[in-house]
Formats: sequence, C-alpha cells, structure tokens
Amino acid sequence: MTTPRIQPIRGMNDVLPEQMAAWHFVEATAREVFAAYGYDELRVPMVEQTDLFKRAIGEYTDVVEKEMFSFVDQGGDSLTLRPEATAGVARAMISNGQLRGARHKLWCVGPMFRHERPQKGRYRQFHQFSVEAIGFNGPDIDIELIAVGARLWKRLGIERVALEINSLGTPDSRRAYREALVSYFRGHEARLDADSRRRLEGNPLRILDSKNPEMQDIVASAPLLSDHLDPESRAHFDALQSALAALGIPFKVNPRLVRGLDYYSRTVFEWITDALGSQNAICSGGRYDGLIAQLGGEPTPAVGFALGIERVVALVEQVGTAPKSPGADVYLIAQGAQAEQQALVVAEKLRDALPGRRIEINLGAGNFKAQFRRADRSGAEFALVIGDDELARGVAQLKPMRTPGGEGGTGQQLEVPLGELVAAVAARISRRD
Ligand code: HAM
Repeated sequence: MTTPRIQPIRGMNDVLPEQMAAWHFVEATAREVFAAYGYDELRVPMVEQTDLFKRAIGEYTDVVEKEMFSFVDQGGDSLTLRPEATAGVARAMISNGQLRGARHKLWCVGPMFRHERPQKGRYRQFHQFSVEAIGFNGPDIDIELIAVGARLWKRLGIERVALEINSLGTPDSRRAYREALVSYFRGHEARLDADSRRRLEGNPLRILDSKNPEMQDIVASAPLLSDHLDPESRAHFDALQSALAALGIPFKVNPRLVRGLDYYSRTVFEWITDALGSQNAICSGGRYDGLIAQLGGEPTPAVGFALGIERVVALVEQVGTAPKSPGADVYLIAQGAQAEQQALVVAEKLRDALPGRRIEINLGAGNFKAQFRRADRSGAEFALVIGDDELARGVAQLKPMRTPGGEGGTGQQLEVPLGELVAAVAARISRRD
C-alpha cells in the first residue's frame, strides 16, 4: 500500500529556488525605492482580531463576507489571517501610541490570505508590499505615493502599466451620492442580480464593480460620483491631476474606480496591466482619512497602496529584467580522506576571508571527473583541487572554470602552496560591483 501524500492547500504556492531571482529583484528594488523616498519598514502580525477587519474593511465587502480565513483559537477568540495589511498598520499606530499628531511614512511586506477562487494571478496566500503614509493631508503625499510606483516600474523594466485614478469624496459627499445611486438602482431593481440586490442596502457603490455582463448597461448609465464631489475633494483631485501632469506620469480618470475595501475616501488609484490576463491590477490604494478614528484612534488622515508581488514578479519574468542568481565562486574538489579534510579547512578559511562569496565543497566523494562535472554545474569561477599528490607537496591546483573561450575551463591552471591559497583566490576572483 502506498502512503497517501499530503496535498498542498489550494491557492497557496511554493516558491522554488529557481524562481527566487525574480522575487529578490522585485523585493530588493522595492526596498531601495521606498528608502529613496524616506519610508521605513515596520512589521505587524499576520493574525489579528476578526473584528479589526470587519470594522476596517467593511461588513459588506467581498473580503469580509466571503474571503476571510477566520478561526476560533484555544482561548475562544475569533482571529483572522490578515487579508491585507492596512488595517493592521492602523491598529499598530494606535496600539503603540504612535499618533499624537506625528507623521509616519511606512512600508511592510508579507503574506496575505483571502479565500478567493484561485486562478492565474489570484491566490489564497499571496504577498504584498504595503506602503502607508499616516498623518498627511495631501494631495502632495498622494502624488508622492504614485511617483513611488512609477519609479518602481521603471526600475523593474516594466512598461505595460497604466495608472487609473478617481476621487471618492468625503463621507458626506459620498452619502449624497449613495442616495442618488440607491434611488437609481431601485428603479432598475428587477435587473439586479442577487449579490447586487443585497448590496443595495449595505454597500451600493460596490454594485458599480459588478462583473456581471447582464448588468453592464445599468452600471454604465448610473449616476457618477464625480458629479457629487464636495468642493474640497474636487480641489484635492484637481491638484493631484495637475501634479501628475507636471511629473509626466500619464493617468486616466476612471469614474467607476471604487475599490473593494470600504475605508477609502477622496483619492483612489490603481496601476493596471494588459499583460497578465484577467487579474490586471498590480498595485492599488488610496486615502483612508477616516479609518484610524473608526478604529478608536485620534482622527488622523492617511493614504497608501499595496502591490501584489506575485503579479509584479510575473511581469518581471515576462520582460526578463531580473539578474540571474549568482552561481558558486569557488568549488573545492578533493580526493582521499586526508585531502577531503584539508579541503574542509581551506573552505572555512576562504569563507572567513571572502564573506559574501559562495564557497562550495564537493560532498560525498566521487572520482575527479564526477567532481569536475559538479563544479561546472555549480557555476563556479574557480575549482580548487587537492589530490594525494598535492597533499603530499602542500599545494593545491587553482583552476579557472569560466575564463573566456572555455566551458569547463581553458584558463591557465596554477599551482599554489596551501598557505597562500586564500590570497591567491582573493587576488584573482572577479570583482562584483
Ligand atoms: P487590494 O486592492 O485589495 O488593496 O490589494 C492590493 C493588490 O494586491 C492588488 O492590486 C493585487 O495586485 C494584489 N492582490 C489582491 N488580491 C490578490 C490575490 N488574491 N492574489 C494575488 N494578488 C492579489 C489592499 O489590499 C489595500 N490594503 C491597499 C492599500 C494600502 N490601501 C491603502 N493602503
């Protein structure tokens, strides 16, 4: 009888070593770009009270209604694996007494969990960089956050992205809009699907987001939020647009962009791509001026965005801009028990002298031919060979593996006394800039 295999969880992926170069490229570039604008990293837990997400994201959102991984812990508390990071960051500011009029520019990274229907680009465990600016009224900071995104795409070599923006106004202007919307949709109630009918009471704006093809014409003729904006939100939105034009960042105003989370007000934006099929949003965000007060903190304006790392990695893989993972620098080959022991000692010395270099040693013996094959596969720039003969004479052979003209190495082999090996390798190893 065969032992049954444990199945992976649907929508939760392993990232294998050969995929890591693109991940590291995206992660390192993002960290660099965030630092260039003065943002600092913070870390928040992956699990929070379920109530946090209900209050922050909203009871009538897809995320809270259908997608949360919630469970009751041993102490009887209802906890949830975070579906996004903004609620946790806002909670952390309040819990740690970080507000009191202070301003923070922050980012965090890690896995998020949503019980969505998995497909390409949409997973149940996915990763986000979340960037949050807390205590700023904007619109200058809204513009800065969009500039961070634009710079990041440029640094990653991603060109097929477009920016869409909209303004959701203040809660007051949205209330007026909401009433107009509800009365419009009530006039067409027979044509609404069950989801939309339910949302009519709780969250009518979400009906605008409906993907149901049979409702597209009703949605298209619905009243526009932009016709209900209060004067301050209008001025904020105008300033955002004129600064984006000044920075040369192309954008499109999409009056139907409402976002799937309830905490937004005024500016919302989304970077979308036509290169990934139906999961076209790679980075989305907006202002959440009311959220911190809504969670019991002192009223503090805030704005942020999150980018989906899997989707950005997929774009980077398409354009091929990620540098290849470096192979080994030195591979030690030895034959005979004593020589093998000597190789272990030499390898440790090399690691002492050359921190950051990849020094691999042949493990599990094997004849010279097999060992050279492994050395070649490791990508090493040099092989260091210690056989019986070398051991007896207190030397090793230093063999260049990647000199021009030579797969397997045609460069000059060099005999080096064991005591001078570290210096000989250090002097010859290629520089990394
Ligand atoms: P969101 O639009 O829900 O916003 O997610 C942000 C990004 O995460 C999306 O644009 C997408 O790239 C990625 N994403 C979302 N769901 C999935 C999934 N199931 N699989 C793969 N990628 C996904 C937020 O999460 C807000 N917290 C953004 C924010 C930060 N607003 C203000 N500050």
